[in-house]
Amino acid sequence: MSGEVIIVGGGIIGLASAWRCLQAGLTVTVFDPDPTRAAAFAAAGMLTPVTEAYWGEEDLIAVSTASMRRYAGFVAELEAVTGLDVDLRTSGVLVVAFDNDDLEVIEDLFRLHESCGLPSRRLRGRECRAVEPLLTPTTRGGVLAPDDGSVNPRRVLGALSRAVELSGGSLVCQQVRELRIQGDRVEGVLTDDGVAHGADVVVLTAGAWTPLVRGVPEADRPPVRPVKGQILRMTSRLHSHHPGITVRGFVRGSHVYIVPRSDSEVVIGATSEERGFSRQVTGWGVNELLRDALTLIPGLGESELTECRAGLRPGTPDNGPVVGWGRTEGLYLATGHFRHGVLLAPITAEAVAADLAGRPAPAEIGAFRPGRFVGEFVP
Ligand code: GLY
Repeated sequence: MSGEVIIVGGGIIGLASAWRCLQAGLTVTVFDPDPTRAAAFAAAGMLTPVTEAYWGEEDLIAVSTASMRRYAGFVAELEAVTGLDVDLRTSGVLVVAFDNDDLEVIEDLFRLHESCGLPSRRLRGRECRAVEPLLTPTTRGGVLAPDDGSVNPRRVLGALSRAVELSGGSLVCQQVRELRIQGDRVEGVLTDDGVAHGADVVVLTAGAWTPLVRGVPEADRPPVRPVKGQILRMTSRLHSHHPGITVRGFVRGSHVYIVPRSDSEVVIGATSEERGFSRQVTGWGVNELLRDALTLIPGLGESELTECRAGLRPGTPDNGPVVGWGRTEGLYLATGHFRHGVLLAPITAEAVAADLAGRPAPAEIGAFRPGRFVGEFVP
């Protein structure tokens, strides 16, 4: 195809796709009025195809595992191009149980790992504490997924922005007001300043906001909804207060994760709330996260609470992303990545660039084409 591409949304999916499209020889402009609104800007950046696997989501496990296989190469290339360190950690993720009921959840997770052949090891309570000595002595048991990890998504966003610019792409801080369509073909977009921008292809990567882009024909509006996640950041100059490994915990039936960085930061997440587009941080949300995190790792209570924020995950009816051509000619969707936007960025970007360049996309994306939602529209 001739290659003028507009990408609507400068989050991790939009920027990674822009970078890969530029590498494929396309001309790319990314529009985003506020990159700090991106779900990845709030996210902890867990790379957890194993520890965030769920029964009934085998296709999602396959695409997540395939993206994880790409991560080290993706980061190495990004860091080499930009000279920026994105703090990739692949030293494993530990899932732990606080009480006996929580242990049932761990057993069930381990059965799933066994049935799908995912790499993980079942640990007793004291073995969990040998892996992470800051855990409460009452830890009942857990599962260690040695290949899961994390990345600092804010650093990834910064590095991708730089990579896009270095590859000749444009990042424009403008709100897209609407999609411009002529007949049954996309012509470009109109931005809030009233300027029309032409394109051969428009890629919608606006996360939870994707269905709100005006002018998208009903048949191409993805069934994406916002799922709010409140998340906290703590810092301490004393590394002895912070875990050495990412910990996911089940605490009296509730769920929390604690993600350490290589610097002084620890991220504690996240609530999961269906509250429309509200991004309010609430007392209940902060209370729930701190209560569970400090129950598992009491020493964290010594650290400074430096940020409370809420992001909006783009959820879909089957929890999988929506990646592929719409029915309108020239319209492409890459959205709905829900809990796994950071993890799925490499494989999604590869698929977008391959589809736009007319090359075969990774096979694992096949289960996540927009056509599976025909007839399901967001009102
Ligand atoms: N994957 C972490 C979250 O969605 O909170």
